[in-house]
Amino acid sequence: MSENLFKKIQSSPIPRHLAVIMDGNGRWAKKKGLPRLEGHRKGAEIVQNLLDTSLKLKIKYISLYAFSTENWKRPKLEIKGLFEILNDFIALRLSEMHEKGVRILISGDISKLPQKSQNLLKDAISLTRKNKKITVNFCLNYGGRAEIHRAAENLLKAFLEEKFNQNKKIKITEKIFQKYLYTAQLPDIDLMIRTAGEKRISNFLLYQSAYAEFYFTEKTWPEFNESEFLKSIIDFQHRVRKYGGL
Ligand code: IPE
Ligand code: IPE
Ligand code: MG
Repeated sequence: MSENLFKKIQSSPIPRHLAVIMDGNGRWAKKKGLPRLEGHRKGAEIVQNLLDTSLKLKIKYISLYAFSTENWKRPKLEIKGLFEILNDFIALRLSEMHEKGVRILISGDISKLPQKSQNLLKDAISLTRKNKKITVNFCLNYGGRAEIHRAAENLLKAFLEEKFNQNKKIKITEKIFQKYLYTAQLPDIDLMIRTAGEKRISNFLLYQSAYAEFYFTEKTWPEFNESEFLKSIIDFQHRVRKYGGL
């Protein structure tokens, strides 16, 4: 099935930066009569498939929404389980990702995460920092508004600490502002996928998705296999992007 879909994919345009709102783990588990955490566990496996297919497609950047600033509203036990699944994912998959040339980045304030997750993430970033095949940006305790607010705050701090030439007339260009976002090293989003039927952005990459193409599917995240992913790429390849022009 996915072999035939591969044949339908043209070599260009391939999204340079793909963003994914991985939603519906809970509903998938419920359908199967399983605890919600089983849905999250299955979801982590799907992430690995997504990375492998992205490597085949030569996608260069992926941002994955793994935990939002609003997800702290969930029951303590679910939150604890989610970070345990994250820890297992890194412990189990890091060396393989490293071998495949994955560079790991994080967006979000990870100082609020359990200490073990923070340590694993920092090690993963440092181990993979020179890899060039693909950059995977895990968004953890991430919120688009919090990110923009933090950027403004850090920019002001840099100004007050006289990191700008105070004599010149100061002009804060978009280029300068973007350097203060978590995604300073990443290009804008080309394709944003959201699974599980919801058609909203839920505070994800608000600034970076200004001209993103959106793809929504009823499939839940654990059901988002290679064929489903390829369908979204084929759909993307038929879009006409105008950026306000004619
Ligand atoms: C997405 O699945 C994973 C996270 C938000 C961490 P959900 O847990 O939101 O699944 P649903 O929306 O309840 O089905
Ligand atoms: C968005 O999913 C966050 C992640 C996928 C990490 P949610 O399930 O938290 O979003 P809402 O609550 O449906 O908007
Ligand atoms: Mg959800």
